[in-house]
Amino acid sequence: MSLSARMSLRRFKSTDAMVSVLQPGNPVYCLHPEELRKAARQFLTRFPGRTLYAVKCNPHPFILHTLFEAGIKHFDAASIPEIAAVRGLGSDATAYYMHPVKTRDAILTAHTVYGIRHFVVDHPDELAKILYETNGGDGLVILVRFATPGGVARYELSRKFGASPDEAAVLLRQVRDARCRTGLAFHVGSQCLSPSAFRDGVLSAGRIAAAADVALDYLDVGGGFPAAYIGEQPPALPDYLAAVRESVAAIDLPGDCALMCQPGRALVAGGCSLVVQVQLRKESSIYINDGRYHSLSETVTGQLSYPVRAIRSDGGFSGTMRDFTVFGPTCDSTDVLPSAFSLPDDIREGDWIEIGQLGAYSNALVTRFNGISPDHFVTIE
Ligand SMILES: Cc1ncc(COP(=O)(O)O)c(C=O)c1O
Repeated sequence: MSLSARMSLRRFKSTDAMVSVLQPGNPVYCLHPEELRKAARQFLTRFPGRTLYAVKCNPHPFILHTLFEAGIKHFDAASIPEIAAVRGLGSDATAYYMHPVKTRDAILTAHTVYGIRHFVVDHPDELAKILYETNGGDGLVILVRFATPGGVARYELSRKFGASPDEAAVLLRQVRDARCRTGLAFHVGSQCLSPSAFRDGVLSAGRIAAAADVALDYLDVGGGFPAAYIGEQPPALPDYLAAVRESVAAIDLPGDCALMCQPGRALVAGGCSLVVQVQLRKESSIYINDGRYHSLSETVTGQLSYPVRAIRSDGGFSGTMRDFTVFGPTCDSTDVLPSAFSLPDDIREGDWIEIGQLGAYSNALVTRFNGISPDHFVTIE
């Protein structure tokens, strides 16, 4: 039985076929498993180490199962529910608890109930919490997260987390002295536009390990690998992976050091599109049934623009295109997208729009604002 059938997701040959059959009045997430498999293959064949999928990016069970069946067996989890979801994939799925700040309860549950061995810290007090709650930390792997300079990604992730290089060296020694296996981790920021950020991160890790005089068991270069959005043409994934490979070769890592990455966006962005419907048109504005409080929040937080395509089930559109201001479904006047959609001039109420590249940080960030909460998924195979 196919995965879609096992998960009771309706399957369609194309997005247009779905629209023609369902005529959906609510947003529909269209999952594209072949795109997910393609992205998984890229990392599995080209990254010179372990690829962890960052579950937070899109935790939908179909996404997790598709990546798992495509060969992704390691997962970056940020909470107990995410760890439980990974455990549900099968006994050969491994979760790593990579949130630098965890509750004591969560550390205890992760360790005793789920057998989690890998944790991240960026402060001595977090290390002390983990050692206490796990009763001394026997068999643990503790990765010390350090901050990177930033400035090259849509989202900075080093303002909130990450020790300075000096602090990281001290912390790394404390990890070794506690007889845990040692690691360093960094995250260059999400939607990182420059491969050299990864090279700089790896070189910093080499300097920190040397300053601490600690032989690394693990080096985690994080996520941040970009997806292709409108107006943004980042270098191709192989350029990022080459930067990792070359810089790793340039530092003095023990031969058995495990290299890891933990992509979210680059694995799943292309694996889902969203079909929304036009509810009203006023001149050059349209009101649709999804917006910044639901699947489209990254249009605001990351200033991202997605490819869009109009769909009409009973006829065609005029060839002329024009820019439309796009309002979301809530009563809030801030529920408007920062960039216009280019759509056919004669688009009208009842037409649909397919928004592409929406597999990352979309359904994962949906709120219940105004009682609206899109949750209809189908697969396109
Ligand atoms: C610790 C950690 N790892 C991985 C990721 C995934 O990043 P991306 O989706 O940019 O690849 C994130 C994103 O916030 C993160 O915080």
